[in-house]
Amino acid sequence: MDVKQIDVETIVKSVLEGMLKQQETANTAGGKTVGSVPATAKVAMLTELEKYEIREFPIPKLGDDDILVKVEGCGICGTDAHEFKRDPFGLIPLVLGHEGTGEIVRMGKNVKKDSAGKELRVGDKVVTCMIFKDNPDITMFDLNKQNVGGADVYGLLPDDDIHLNGWFSDYILIRGGSTVFNVSDLDLDSRILIEPCAVLVHAVERAKTTGILRFNSRVAVQGCGPIGLICIAVLRTMGIENIVAIDGEQKRLDFAKEMGATQSVNFKDYKDIEALSGAVADCFGGHLADFAFQCTGSPAAHSNIYKFIRNGGGLCELGFFINGGDATINPHFDICSKELTIVGSWVYTLRDYATTFDFLKRAKGIGLPMSKLITHRFPLEQINEAHRTNLRMEGLKIAIINE
Ligand SMILES: NC(=O)c1ccc[n+]([C@@H]2O[C@H](COP(=O)([O-])OP(=O)(O)OC[C@H]3O[C@@H](n4cnc5c(N)ncnc54)[C@H](O)[C@@H]3O)[C@@H](O)[C@H]2O)c1
Ligand SMILES: [Zn+2]
Repeated sequence: MDVKQIDVETIVKSVLEGMLKQQETANTAGGKTVGSVPATAKVAMLTELEKYEIREFPIPKLGDDDILVKVEGCGICGTDAHEFKRDPFGLIPLVLGHEGTGEIVRMGKNVKKDSAGKELRVGDKVVTCMIFKDNPDITMFDLNKQNVGGADVYGLLPDDDIHLNGWFSDYILIRGGSTVFNVSDLDLDSRILIEPCAVLVHAVERAKTTGILRFNSRVAVQGCGPIGLICIAVLRTMGIENIVAIDGEQKRLDFAKEMGATQSVNFKDYKDIEALSGAVADCFGGHLADFAFQCTGSPAAHSNIYKFIRNGGGLCELGFFINGGDATINPHFDICSKELTIVGSWVYTLRDYATTFDFLKRAKGIGLPMSKLITHRFPLEQINEAHRTNLRMEGLKIAIINE
């Protein structure tokens, strides 16, 4: 029999379409669905270093505890950038994106409430969280859940199965047992910013454990990338107003003031650390800071920050999510004789995640320009360009926004 290539393609296509239609019918049975859900989802899969490909995968039959979400947007995180550039753990191919949010379009019949006990309905806006939920005060990724079908961890690990497990996509399948929150009362930009904001809610909680941070504290924030800028915003929503921002990029320092910093210092204007420390003290009327947040990944910046803090003051170091190398300090002058209280801070707890929803409402309430943190928005199809823009450090938070 003489079957041309084109015929084979047509036959395969019609068989596949038939299978997917059957699946579509099966999907809807028993659960709840809104609007029409396509048979396949588009995902941006990182297939090699610095290269995402848009792939289509069938939307599988939903389990009774599962949720299908139509993705509205997802921020690009430093972790995504790291994976895009280096793939340090050999995870490629995988679907990234963990700072995502979207609308529930279909739910299994057992799904009634989110992880905070709030009712969930089709049409609600949700986010996921990857933190260990059995103990809401422990900072720990819930990677153990990866062994039971990938529940809980989205946009960080590969799966060989359905591939609808990252937010750089148009649909994501949230498996039963995952941590999911109903955040319908937040706008899209706020929802995209939840994950990085949770980092700062946690850092400020860590800072509070020192007992040094008070309403009238003089606070130095070093580094005005998204992390430092959000730090300023969290401090402002707590009622702390005497904040000095330190960075080398004037544009970022100007934005720090919009975010609520009272004064800013460009470290590039000062010839040595004594002059820089003097400039910080000048901003506080001749006093050093009571408390400082270190929000850069630079070991040199870590060494510097001790010189901005008064005797008996406090420091929160949160700038090294990953190993950035060693820093030199003088234990006598910097810590011991100063009697500093130092805390480290890494990601967040589940409780901080929930606190962040309220923080975002308060930030909006006092007029902080949180949305301006999202400087670039790209459609999913331009995800490679979005990552390259991120690597060039042209903006602050770069987001993928679906139509
Ligand atoms: N603790 C956590 O859980 C956590 C979570 C996310 C990110 N981080 C870390 O926070 C850091 C900041 O993140 P980001 O997204 O804002 O990064 P970013 O690179 O956008 O911002 C860093 C800022 O620091 C400034 N800077 C560099 N050297 C400086 C110096 N010597 N003095 C003053 N400013 C200096 C840069 O100009 C830049 O504006 C990163 O290193 C990241 O690893 C930590
Ligand atoms: Zn992140």
